[in-house]
Amino acid sequence: MKGEKKGNLKFLWEIFKPYTPFMLFAILGGIIESLALAGLAFIIKNIIDDVFIAKDTKALEFVVLAVIVIAFFKELGYFMRDYLYPLAIFKVLRKLRADIYNRILNAEPSFFMKNNIGDILSRITNDLEAFNKTIRLLSVNLVTQIFTVIAMIGVLIYRDVQLFLIFVISVPFLALALNYFGNKRKKYSQRLRESFADFTQHMNQILTGIEVVKLFNRRLFLDLFKKINQKLYHRQKKDSFYETTYLAIVEFIAYMATAAIILYGGFRIIKGELTTGEFFSFLGGVVILINAFQVLQRGAVQIKALDPIVERIRYLLSIPQEEDRGIEFEGLKESIEYRNVNLVIKDIHILRGIDLKIFKGEKLGIVGLTGSGKSTMVKILPAIVKNYTGEVLLDGVELRNFSVSSLRKKIGMVSQDVFIFNDTVRNNLLIANPEASEEEIIEAIKKAKAEFVFKLENGLDTVLGEKGSRLSGGERQRLSIARVFLKKPDILIIDEGTSALDVQTEEEVIKNIFNEFKDNTILMITHRLRILEKTERIIVVDKGKIVEEGTEEELMKKKGVFYRFIQISGEG
Ligand SMILES: Nc1ncnc2c1ncn2[C@@H]1O[C@H](COP(=O)(O)OP(=O)(O)O)[C@@H](O)[C@H]1O
Ligand SMILES: [Mg+2]
Repeated sequence: MKGEKKGNLKFLWEIFKPYTPFMLFAILGGIIESLALAGLAFIIKNIIDDVFIAKDTKALEFVVLAVIVIAFFKELGYFMRDYLYPLAIFKVLRKLRADIYNRILNAEPSFFMKNNIGDILSRITNDLEAFNKTIRLLSVNLVTQIFTVIAMIGVLIYRDVQLFLIFVISVPFLALALNYFGNKRKKYSQRLRESFADFTQHMNQILTGIEVVKLFNRRLFLDLFKKINQKLYHRQKKDSFYETTYLAIVEFIAYMATAAIILYGGFRIIKGELTTGEFFSFLGGVVILINAFQVLQRGAVQIKALDPIVERIRYLLSIPQEEDRGIEFEGLKESIEYRNVNLVIKDIHILRGIDLKIFKGEKLGIVGLTGSGKSTMVKILPAIVKNYTGEVLLDGVELRNFSVSSLRKKIGMVSQDVFIFNDTVRNNLLIANPEASEEEIIEAIKKAKAEFVFKLENGLDTVLGEKGSRLSGGERQRLSIARVFLKKPDILIIDEGTSALDVQTEEEVIKNIFNEFKDNTILMITHRLRILEKTERIIVVDKGKIVEEGTEEELMKKKGVFYRFIQISGEG
């Protein structure tokens, strides 16, 4: 724990180090501001004693000039502190966001299988914002307040030591109140944040699933929401209660201290030991000092909140990264060979002794029940799934020797789930091949039977929206297939990638694919017999094993697993 804390400090130091000039100037601004405040408190004496009481015109001119000069420096200092310090934080945040984004793009694919996406997202949004807010209350601001406290104590002692000692008596009471209510407020503001998170999360769920929600009993949702809503109300109430009580009590103690100062100071003024000016100068200093205490106390509470936030951010920056080393895969020359490939994830044996040789240019059909391991088996080739045992050889060279980027460049994949991002149709297609010409794009769309895009309101420039939500499953799949025509991969994997198309469109698209990629290797996972008929060989996967192998004709004649599978899926 202690080591982690030290790690957090070191981490903060490292990320802020490039911006030390900003920080130093901000601190300088804070010091200027503190000194100016002390100067204002100090000069109250001259205003009262020399101008109001002694009625000295020269002193009036001097005092007004002094106020203007001090005010200028106070605001200059304020500007330096309150502009430069957040600026440094914004720069740090920009760097953190970029680092996290890179970390995620280069992450080991297995990381996302083991971690909750919602949690990762919350760290990126909520925790970075909490980091911004918390760090802003700290550091430079604390330094400034410490300087203010020191400068003020200087003024107070200089003005009157005895009065200062009277004030000191009130400090423990003040500290107690600040601490007690500070902790209460911290507790409730934390709970309040959790309640807000519950609320947004629930709203998000309802909104994204509203069509399904409508089919269920409304009562259930209303009850659930009532609890969340009530809790949020309760916590807001408590949070506000402690905040106002805290302010009231702190102010009351401050008034008590003031009363004591007036009592004792009044006596000394009457006895002629203290001037009126000195008294008010002292009082002004006390007000500024109490304010500084409050800010310092808030900072002390925030410091505790910073540790868990920094830890959550550091977790994102330690996402295991994929290495892109090794020889370049330049395309298949002879064969892909799986040799006794096994895979275990979380104690589940997903692949069991896969032995398979696929020749260049072969069209291989892969069949099996849901969960039998088909997708996992093919995902080994573009190195999405990695921790297998045994060997996977590309032209006799173990796959792990190739750089992952070169494998992914040469291997194309169309799956059931299609990634569409919130951009135009054109840009969604260009990610497959940024150099593709307009003609190539149109040709690919036609081959993929995705002509519907021409009818969208802005054609290829139509923005598809979040996750392509305005498209049907079949339309998304057609875009995904169009990408493959643009990418022209050496090895093509179609993992139920045409499952959402109607039978006729599917056949036409598959015909186009087989035509375009007639010299390339195709691995085709499907349960449609009419597509399997077009393949040269079929393997049947069951519970992570290859249980049958042969041409469609052979397998149908054999009346084994494949035959039964085709019967069940109603394709026979
Ligand atoms: N990341 C993972 N973590 C745990 N289990 C997984 C993971 N990926 C796949 N599996 C499991 O491996 C089995 C095979 O999955 P998959 O290859 O997707 O099957 P198929 O494509 O044949 O339907 C399933 O039981 C699935 O639940
Ligand atoms: Mg699958």
